[in-house]
Amino acid sequence: MTLRITVLGTGYVGTAHAVTMAGAGFSVLGMDIDAEKIAALTSGRVPLFEPGIEDLVNHHRLRGVLQFTTSYREAARFGDVHFLCVPTPQSPDGSADLKPLLGALEGLAPHLTRPALVVGKSTVPVGTATVLGERLAELAGHPAVELAWNPEFLREGHAVVDSLHPDRLVFGVSSAPAAALLREVYRFLLDQGVPLIVTGLETAELIKMAANAFLATKISFINAVAEMCELVSADVVTVAEALGQDPRIGSAHLHPGLGFGGSCLPKDLRSFTAQARALRLTGAASLLTAVDQINDQARNRLVDLVRAECGGTLRGKRIAALGAAFKPDSDDTRDSPALAVAEQLHREGAHVAVFDPRASAQARRACPQLDHGESLLHVCREADLLVHLTDWPQFRDVDPAAVAEVVRARRIVDARNSLDPQKWRAAGWRFTALGRPASDPTISLSGTLLR
Ligand code: UDX
Repeated sequence: MTLRITVLGTGYVGTAHAVTMAGAGFSVLGMDIDAEKIAALTSGRVPLFEPGIEDLVNHHRLRGVLQFTTSYREAARFGDVHFLCVPTPQSPDGSADLKPLLGALEGLAPHLTRPALVVGKSTVPVGTATVLGERLAELAGHPAVELAWNPEFLREGHAVVDSLHPDRLVFGVSSAPAAALLREVYRFLLDQGVPLIVTGLETAELIKMAANAFLATKISFINAVAEMCELVSADVVTVAEALGQDPRIGSAHLHPGLGFGGSCLPKDLRSFTAQARALRLTGAASLLTAVDQINDQARNRLVDLVRAECGGTLRGKRIAALGAAFKPDSDDTRDSPALAVAEQLHREGAHVAVFDPRASAQARRACPQLDHGESLLHVCREADLLVHLTDWPQFRDVDPAAVAEVVRARRIVDARNSLDPQKWRAAGWRFTALGRPASDPTISLSGTLLR
């Protein structure tokens, strides 16, 4: 008999996992305690922006293999394998808040009256799965209910593609039957040759934490180098390009600029730091703390640069902020470096007008004190300076000559190091960027290497 799958939590991870499971041939029930979300999904509307996901939800919904509910009882009755995809937000002390995860487990467990595997996907401190497993054993209505951990590595903006083509699968299990069941669930990926790591619960949990902390470290490392570049007139984009050519280093997540944000890297880094501190691992804790501090510094360095470009004060200056989402291809503004900078510029007396191709509504809700425009030209009107904050591909295609027509001064600061300095300078703009000299001869000399 074909397995039936439930997915508890219908955010980015849960929705992407649900459509992936439905595409793999399973019947899937998505469950969430948020009735509005479930009402939207049931009517074919996905209440988040993620390329390709709405079409897939509708495709599988109309095939009758993907349904949604707010009922734990219904989820428990439906599924053989239950995936926990609920968030683990940051507590005030930096550690992970496990209440939502525990809430989902405690909601589901008493209704499990036949053999089932409950599989955690959320990012958690090491040891969480064991605690949840014990709680599950206490509450479950059947003895053959077990917990496994199967971390996900998907990126927002690529959630569907990453779910369908993961780099690796990790099964954290306490028994051979649990591993066998997960193999059955992921057969379609294993048959395609996706590497599989089968390990214990703790190792699986740690793999995910370490992966996110390492990605954050790479970004902060290159941003620390960017800071040095600023003081010695070197160009961090060229440095990063050259480092990335070394396969031992690799170019991914080595892009210098405003640093990381979003709902995962910052809070997972802090949760990992809190756990290192609790374990009295001072070296690890100070490394991870430095990664966080360097990331914050990038925001301050950018505000300093914008202020300097505005002649030493932001009071009364009109700034056009290009981007609000924490990264391109996303409407997510949670812990967005772009919005943090826009807010700081506003606090220092600037009039800030923000444009984001997708995250305008979220940005307006999060920062009502800022002006929010519906087009790039609209926010650039009468601007004293443009600041490029989120690396949307369409910003790279902007025609500097057209924008020059509407601004008060041709000044742009590229905080994402992805605009073409030559193109902007050729159109008469003063172009500055984090970690790059104001006019660096290597920009033209190393044209073959640069994007
Ligand atoms: C991250 C992990 O990549 C993913 O594996 C995990 O499952 C969840 O957390 P996500 O939060 O979607 O995914 O974002 P990611 O693509 O990693 O980017 C995070 C932040 O770092 C963004 O703000 C991005 O702009 C920034 N970034 C990324 C850089 O500043 N430089 C880079 O080279 C890459």
